[in-house]
Amino acid sequence: MSPTTMTETPATAVPGIVIDDVTILIFGASGDLTARKLIPALFQLTRDGYLSDQCLIVGVARRPKQESEFRREMAEAIRQHSRTGIPTEQELERFLGMVTYFEADISNADHFHAMQSAVSEREAARGLSGRRLIYMATMPELFLPAVESLSAAGMIPPREEFDRLRMVFEKPFGTDLKSAQHLSQGLGQLLNEQQIFRIDHYLGKETVQNILLFRFGNALFEPLFNRNHVDHVQITVAESQGIEGGRGGYYDTSGAMRDVMQNHVLQLLCLVAMEPPTAFEAESIRDEKLKVLQTLLNSNQRPVREWAVAGQYAAAAIGGKKVRGYLDEDRIDADSQTETFVAIEAQIDNWRWAGVPFYLRTGKRLGSRVSEIMIEFKQPPLNLFHTVECEGSLCHIVEAQPNRLVFRIQPEEAISLQISAKQPGMQYQVRPVEMEFDYDDAFEVALPEAYERLLLDVMRGDSTLFTRSDELEAAWRFVDPILKAWESPKHHPELYPAGSWGPKGADELLKKSGRKWRTPIVK
Ligand code: BG6
Repeated sequence: MSPTTMTETPATAVPGIVIDDVTILIFGASGDLTARKLIPALFQLTRDGYLSDQCLIVGVARRPKQESEFRREMAEAIRQHSRTGIPTEQELERFLGMVTYFEADISNADHFHAMQSAVSEREAARGLSGRRLIYMATMPELFLPAVESLSAAGMIPPREEFDRLRMVFEKPFGTDLKSAQHLSQGLGQLLNEQQIFRIDHYLGKETVQNILLFRFGNALFEPLFNRNHVDHVQITVAESQGIEGGRGGYYDTSGAMRDVMQNHVLQLLCLVAMEPPTAFEAESIRDEKLKVLQTLLNSNQRPVREWAVAGQYAAAAIGGKKVRGYLDEDRIDADSQTETFVAIEAQIDNWRWAGVPFYLRTGKRLGSRVSEIMIEFKQPPLNLFHTVECEGSLCHIVEAQPNRLVFRIQPEEAISLQISAKQPGMQYQVRPVEMEFDYDDAFEVALPEAYERLLLDVMRGDSTLFTRSDELEAAWRFVDPILKAWESPKHHPELYPAGSWGPKGADELLKKSGRKWRTPIVK
């Protein structure tokens, strides 16, 4: 997995980064993630010159399948999901030449012995040294059995040679603190922490990475990121879709808290709230993120119902089309109490943020698909510019709006700053206007998919954008008491109509302090 110097640099690749000695094994190769994300990302890395076609990609799953059939399926997946246009036959052929399939049952050590010798043979034929990346895109219950079978088959190198194997684990990493600790301990018996990459694909998104650069690469904004200047922060990860085909079984045992809040949203919170790291490297950054999660814990001593709201979507018409409610989705318990929406008023108990509420929300079947972070600044101490506006005999006072900094993560990536300006005319009339930095306009390049960046980072051994075990545990420590309170038979998630912005309780969270959720602007 060592980066080597390239002889020929394709236009998009960063010179000097090319991985030419790795075998990538994907466990769970017949799943959706492999076809939609992993294989298209690996194809793109090859297309861009980051991953050499000397390397080997092995799809591993239980289903019997010929190599040719797997290659055909993967070709179709690439045609459908390639972000830089339909590949030529030549490109596909080159990539598929790297791809093979192996049928194995994770709990069967014999299968792993056979896999070890088959893969080693292929590696020898390609001149690969046997450095491996194993991607666990399986159900989480299989993480530990898989590592045990790998160990039994001699596929886990001795500790001192930890660099020869890196393993990526998809979320959910545990379902609560106890199970996450159990998993970490189990993996820790056979792997070093440096070999374990817990993936959170939000950290691979460009705008998310830009939060750190924006905060710590500019002198302008960072002095304002604290309780003296910030009124409150809102983080929204909203989805317009419901439960996609086949996911009901998983989602009904997970819910919005475990599926998105515990990981993606809390990671965003960490990036906005953390202190500057001492260096831009994995451990310093993760140390600072950890402190944010730890200070969250101490602050919420109030009853859960006062600061956390669960919701579940009900049937409604969206744009004239009837959309079913959560309980009518496939593979959902008819009387399920699983939350499809969560809103939290979090407090960070440290010098920088004491007293500044962080409002977090995520949910399915909301008004639109949008993820953003909004930082609302305090009003100027003296409001000189309020004006009176009248329509007929009805007059009202218009005041300057607070400044707002918005990191738009998706669907389009942008950073915007809302400021107050004078409306042209003979009076001082205040209007909010926006200064915007838009990725498309500024750089005119297609942004890499999160999985491309993250897979390349694993191959390079860079764990900056992955979650460390102590971070993960701190996140569970924050979330566990909320989930526990919601387990009570008396607790029911509040219904909200599909296509709305969540239950009334979420609005109440802000209303009590005179604040409101921002309705994200969808272009
Ligand atoms: C995944 C969740 O981690 O993130 C899904 O399991 C969710 O339920 C998805 O839909 C959202 O990711 P993105 O990148 O589409 O915002």
